[in-house]
Amino acid sequence: MPITIKSAREIELMTEAGRILEIVHDELAKSLHPGMSTMDIDQLGEEVIRSYGCIPSFLDYNGYPASICVSVNDEVVHGIPDRHRILQDGDVVSLDAGVIYKGYHSDAARTYGIGEISKEAEDLIKVTRESFFEGIKYAKEGNYLFDISAAIGRYASERGYGVVRDLCGHGIGTALHEAPEIPNYEMNRKGVKLKSGMTLAIEPMINAGTWEVDWLDDDWTVVTRDHSLSAHYENTVLITDNEPKLLTLSK
Ligand code: MF3
Ligand code: CO
Repeated sequence: MPITIKSAREIELMTEAGRILEIVHDELAKSLHPGMSTMDIDQLGEEVIRSYGCIPSFLDYNGYPASICVSVNDEVVHGIPDRHRILQDGDVVSLDAGVIYKGYHSDAARTYGIGEISKEAEDLIKVTRESFFEGIKYAKEGNYLFDISAAIGRYASERGYGVVRDLCGHGIGTALHEAPEIPNYEMNRKGVKLKSGMTLAIEPMINAGTWEVDWLDDDWTVVTRDHSLSAHYENTVLITDNEPKLLTLSK
């Protein structure tokens, strides 16, 4: 599949999809507290998404059973909400959400600490977020896709973290996953040339220990092989001939 270049109208719709998803994440962030279940997060998320007339894009995607991916501690991504999974003080929780607004997708993830978390956890969350911002320094027309990948990977691995290789970011638009795939590590080649109007979901997944991951028997939940903590940070990004526009992060 070729990489789609969005028209001005499509960018308007994706901007609105992004704005709504940002509100969803803000509402989820405010709700987090020890004692709540990961299912409570999913229910609130779905409610907020639908209250804006949007569809939760993850629900039923390849059979995924929920609207919000909730991944706790050694879970990297795609954790399945569960009413028996209760958040505890000290947990590290990654929330990944996507919405469809008038046929256009946005996709974003955030990682939070519940109550008091360890210095190790704080640093992991911070470096994961920073690696995204390091990557998007290169997200500009005329640069190459894998400039972004290399910058993310370098930033996190230089600081001693494991950079997940089994999952990537992606193009996004009328589908949740469009071309191109966006690895979070050095590719030793350039990749496609970035063009104004491309929309990309850039999403570093960073582990405190090894980069290696496993899939649980539910076939969704990805966990770190060494059970070290993991963090995830993602925004939907519009490439322009100048600074990239973060469609899911206006502030
Ligand atoms: N942000 C993730 C991704 O890009 C979430 C989608 S997984 C789903 O792959 F299956 F739950 F939708
Ligand atoms: Co994504």
